[in-house]
Amino acid sequence: MNRTTRTRISNLRDDAFGRIRAAVGEKGWTADPAEMAPRLRDERGLYEGRAGMLVRPANTAETAAVVALCHEAGVPIVPQGGNTGLVGGATPDTDFAGIVLATGRMNRLRAVDAVNNTLTAEAGCILADLQRAAAGHDRLFPLSLGAEGTCQIGGNLSTNAGGTAVLRYGNARELVLGLEVVLPNGEIWEGLRALRKDNTGYALRHLFVGAEGTLGIITAAVLKLFPLPRDRQTALAAVPSPAAAVSLLGRLQAATGEAVTGYELMGRLPVEMALRRIAGTGDPFPGSTYPQYVLIELSGQGAEGTLKAPLEDTLAAAQEKGEVLDAVIAASTAQARAFWKLRESITEAQKFEGASIKHDVAVPVSRVAEFIVAATAACERALPGVRVVAFGHVGDGNIHFNLSEPLAGWTRERYLGEWERMNRLVHDMVMAMGGTFSAEHGIGRLKKAELARYRSPVELATMRALKTALDPKGIMNPGRIL
Ligand code: FAD
Ligand code: MLT
Ligand code: ZN
Repeated sequence: MNRTTRTRISNLRDDAFGRIRAAVGEKGWTADPAEMAPRLRDERGLYEGRAGMLVRPANTAETAAVVALCHEAGVPIVPQGGNTGLVGGATPDTDFAGIVLATGRMNRLRAVDAVNNTLTAEAGCILADLQRAAAGHDRLFPLSLGAEGTCQIGGNLSTNAGGTAVLRYGNARELVLGLEVVLPNGEIWEGLRALRKDNTGYALRHLFVGAEGTLGIITAAVLKLFPLPRDRQTALAAVPSPAAAVSLLGRLQAATGEAVTGYELMGRLPVEMALRRIAGTGDPFPGSTYPQYVLIELSGQGAEGTLKAPLEDTLAAAQEKGEVLDAVIAASTAQARAFWKLRESITEAQKFEGASIKHDVAVPVSRVAEFIVAATAACERALPGVRVVAFGHVGDGNIHFNLSEPLAGWTRERYLGEWERMNRLVHDMVMAMGGTFSAEHGIGRLKKAELARYRSPVELATMRALKTALDPKGIMNPGRIL
């Protein structure tokens, strides 16, 4: 690019920035480095970037105006919600000259229709606020994950978030009926339909769910609600092995069917990390250590306590067979919360335990145990001293197979240098088992090479064709996913 062209592009950009500032008003933008800093690095501390401006539109019309101006001037946009994503999708590159568009000010709950069991919310609504709003109408919005106090529904939909209730209610994709989206040219697609049946051509909403901001900006969504469970039983069981955990899941499903709402596995090491690092966590079996733990949640519409007897009976039957070593059923809501706190503290705790090479993988539930055992052995052989932190949503086959730096003898840089080798080992194994190398966190920036490696040319070309059709100028979250 010669100097004249560079100057022309820079003038165009400055002009667009001025018009964007006018479109969103004083409260809608900042270029203050201190205010922008937390928006320019990712949750895991893997990436840090830059941007010309942070733009915070107050509503869909402002968002559309900003995107139209960016489209016209070729200014790239990184959409951002709560910035809790784990694959660097919301963090701009170091040479990024466009804008970060944060959705946090678009946080109105537009409607709750308790008869239709739906809720209409703007993209910037915090997930936990939506759960509370639904509960206020005696309804459940079931999407649930460790970052729910910070992440936003627009981000949840854009990453097709999973979390801890997928087993019963599905992931974010299955919870959305309609969307409002600002397309890359600034047009608004008004698709806020609240219908459970609607076969009118392509289901466009599914294009934007899981698109990680590369196809447009989700500004609002119609979400499914469910009856608020009347009975909830939470238990922690200590089990001898991942195989025993999977077998116990089958027993619980046979005994209580759909009532199995959450089923989370935790190895001893992640439990120890949470106990060691996070205040307010407690060992459910003080004085005893067990190889694996499962956090079980049953819920249903029967009277309070209905599910307790089948839970106790199933745990007792499994204990007789040696599949359960010890178990405790929460006697109060506070105790149930304490069990969940232990589980949900693992990600945060791991941050204090040195560098981590994460694998967010899934295999069929029938192969979960085989995967954990084989991958643990292979990683320990390949990198002596590595600490395998395996935990997660075993009920739906999704394991967080994270590898923490050995306790001694490594620097962060040298350890992270093993990233590619360990990825290959784990991901090849997962793929050979009919699994996936990204179950719920998405591709973002971190897993682009994995996508290119493991998905077929036909699949990749189809994705590229979609991207080009919707965003021919390539301004929406450039360089992410593809
Ligand atoms: P961001 O991080 O801001 O953005 C994520 C991606 O979506 C980016 O590519 C961004 O450009 C795009 N985006 C954001 N908003 C929009 C929008 N309105 N329109 C278009 N694109 C947009 N994830 C799970 O799936 N399951 C878990 O169990 C889980 N547990 C977690 C626990 C912890 C402690 C943490 C820190 C993270 C966890 N995550 C989990 C990851 C993360 O919380 C989810 O990916 C979440 O859905 C991201 O939401 P966000 O608002 O923070 O999005
Ligand atoms: C979780 O389920 O806690 C997160 O998705 C996992 C992670 O930190 O890898
Ligand atoms: Zn998870």
